[in-house]
Amino acid sequence: MSIQAVRGTRDIHGEEMQKWHRAEQVFRDVAVAFSYQEYRTPIFEQTELFKRGVGQDTDIVGKEMYTFEDRGGDSLTLRPEMTAPIVRACMEHSLLHHNPIQRLWYAGPQFRYDRPQKGRYRQFHQFGAECIGSPHPEADAEIILLAYEALRRYGVTSFTLEINSLGTSDVRSAYRAALIAFLEQHAGQLSEDSQKRMHANPLRVLDSKDERDKTVVAQAPLLRDYLDDASRAHMEAVLVLLDAAGVPYRVNPYLVRGLDYYNHIVFEFTTDALGTQNAIGGGGRYDPLFSILGGGEQPAVGFSIGIERMILLHDAEHADTAEKPAPHGVYISAIGDQARLPVQIIALRLRRKGVHVVTDLLRRSVKAQMKDANRENVAFCVMIGESELADQTAVVKNMITGEQVTVEQGNIESVVLQHE
Ligand code: HAM
Repeated sequence: MSIQAVRGTRDIHGEEMQKWHRAEQVFRDVAVAFSYQEYRTPIFEQTELFKRGVGQDTDIVGKEMYTFEDRGGDSLTLRPEMTAPIVRACMEHSLLHHNPIQRLWYAGPQFRYDRPQKGRYRQFHQFGAECIGSPHPEADAEIILLAYEALRRYGVTSFTLEINSLGTSDVRSAYRAALIAFLEQHAGQLSEDSQKRMHANPLRVLDSKDERDKTVVAQAPLLRDYLDDASRAHMEAVLVLLDAAGVPYRVNPYLVRGLDYYNHIVFEFTTDALGTQNAIGGGGRYDPLFSILGGGEQPAVGFSIGIERMILLHDAEHADTAEKPAPHGVYISAIGDQARLPVQIIALRLRRKGVHVVTDLLRRSVKAQMKDANRENVAFCVMIGESELADQTAVVKNMITGEQVTVEQGNIESVVLQHE
């Protein structure tokens, strides 16, 4: 059998590529509007970064990382997420010494060894932003608004912003003890996964999708009843900002997120339109991460959106209105062998002026070139044959109206650029 792409990875091409370009453009524009700087980190890092940063007991570190030893014997991992690498970079380059607030955004591939299905891949892509340096609710709100604006500007609407507070680490340890005690009493009714998890990572039982767990969880003590005044006030202030900005949300007391570095606000953008993969994006405040990684105390908040899921959601919402892209660019057709070389030179001249030009590379008949021009969906077809070569002209056909004019070869661009 011929070699195929690795399970859980996808090739992106053709019409889908245009959707990616548009998504990337929207992210860039929104990030710039919020004054975030792009940051690119390597695709692999020391394994230790994720073990410590994301947390030993998480699914990501426990069973989803692509970890390998390189030829020098170092343990490396293909990045499963971007927050730990951004914090590593921030510390390594002392970014906060230069500016006490770092607003950074990124887009790129991530790797998780999960069971592939629609919307879940082993190589997937995230767009995200991290606001580092502020402990205040304005920073949380800014990050949520940035994510919300990106989704809205891309044109998706059928999602819910779910939000919760995990409080401080003291709040969580008190709650954790109460939750473990409760789960122990109901251990027999829990799924096997949750029984395994309930001591190491009991909060994850709260957002289990297993019906048996959901029934138990419905009776469980709620984290919000354990929140201290400062945590409550922080959450309240973020919600007031969201209300003022007109961003709808739903407080979900069971939302805990699957990564260990969070405290205070956590949030997720969820949808019913993508089957079981219901999270399009998520994030939260992760004040503990800098000290976990040895960088002292440093408040931070951020989010990531899954680009594949965002595009799938857009497709689901716009299934009936998928339209053919507008005709664009010029096809230059050589009529007869004599014209082939001049056509290539005219094409180069036009390309240098910014015109999108296609030419025939298969030495096809005129009829076959016309067919090709239609397939390429160009706005104009320029035809150059023997008589045009002799008097330095070209026939320019408007592919939309069918109208044809003869112009000097040096004037082709004035006709076609008018339309661009
Ligand atoms: P996460 O919830 O693990 O958070 O991932 C964010 C988003 O990435 C998900 O909501 C989903 O859209 C997408 N995603 C995750 N796994 C897959 C997959 N296997 N296939 C396709 N899409 C996937 C984080 O990664 C955190 N770093 C977010 C964050 C940033 N928190 C603070 N700052």
